[in-house]
Amino acid sequence: MAITGTRTAMVMSVHEFHRLSSFIYTHYGIKLPMTKKTMLEGRLHKRLVALKLPGYKAYCDYLFSAEGKLSELIQMVDLVTTNKTDFFREAIHFDYLSRHVLPSAAQNDPGKLFSIWSAGCSTGEEPYTLAITLSEFAELNRGFNFSIFATDISTRVLGAAVKAVYSEEKVQPIPLVLKRKYLLKSKDVKNKTVRIAPQLRSKVNFERINFIDDDFSTIQVFNVVFCRNVLIYFDRETQEKVIRKLCSKIEEGGYLFLGHSESISGMDLPLIQVHPTIFKKI
Ligand SMILES: C[S@@+](CC[C@H](N)C(=O)[O-])C[C@H]1O[C@@H](n2cnc3c(N)ncnc32)[C@H](O)[C@@H]1O
Repeated sequence: MAITGTRTAMVMSVHEFHRLSSFIYTHYGIKLPMTKKTMLEGRLHKRLVALKLPGYKAYCDYLFSAEGKLSELIQMVDLVTTNKTDFFREAIHFDYLSRHVLPSAAQNDPGKLFSIWSAGCSTGEEPYTLAITLSEFAELNRGFNFSIFATDISTRVLGAAVKAVYSEEKVQPIPLVLKRKYLLKSKDVKNKTVRIAPQLRSKVNFERINFIDDDFSTIQVFNVVFCRNVLIYFDRETQEKVIRKLCSKIEEGGYLFLGHSESISGMDLPLIQVHPTIFKKI
């Protein structure tokens, strides 16, 4: 097949869609029904162009070859994941942490390092919001110390998260008083970006973790796990398996925070609901 440069010459067949979508489901948990075919085609098109491949069959053959598995899978995952996120997204969660979870941890386990896992952290807005929330609490509670572990499957978003540079528009949800404390402006006045201050960055460790394929045996146990707006891309069976794995990494009496549209109702899990989308491990 010749490269014509037009999109119409590069239509993904149903067979190719099934090859890709079943691989993505098996290894990453992300469910892509037939209605997502155009979306997948659109997202992967730029890889066909970059690799100078004539069509999706050639792309599949390359992706599933030994060489493709080493170099192309990472790029494909970057394109098929949805990474929408914001600072102080679902702000009630940070409020609940400050009002209920942190005071009881500081009282019951004074001096113990408080640990949180931001599981599916995307470009870093969620772990840095946690770092702001916990730093504010630490300022008023001497001896309180914390660490944040932030993971995602996409190396592209993890790269952005480590850089910690955001547009002024992106940091709008952060209250002004906190912006002044925790954001650094660029020295170049024309540059409308800010960087998260080093005292927050040093509290967050980023790592690539796949909830489906990766074994959690080397991961520590946390006081709190945030896994918000990730499970919506999985089917119910996968959701339950992933939540069970996450629960094994929450200490007894610790908490799991899910996204506003995610539910565990009907699942057999060691959790009780303490607030809509907030669960305590029993
Ligand atoms: C929509 S973002 C949510 C970001 C943040 N938690 C929030 O609520 O704003 C979902 C993230 O989950 C990640 N993700 C999807 N499948 C994953 C998997 N199998 N393992 C780990 N992370 C995954 C995606 O790469 C994406 O960055």
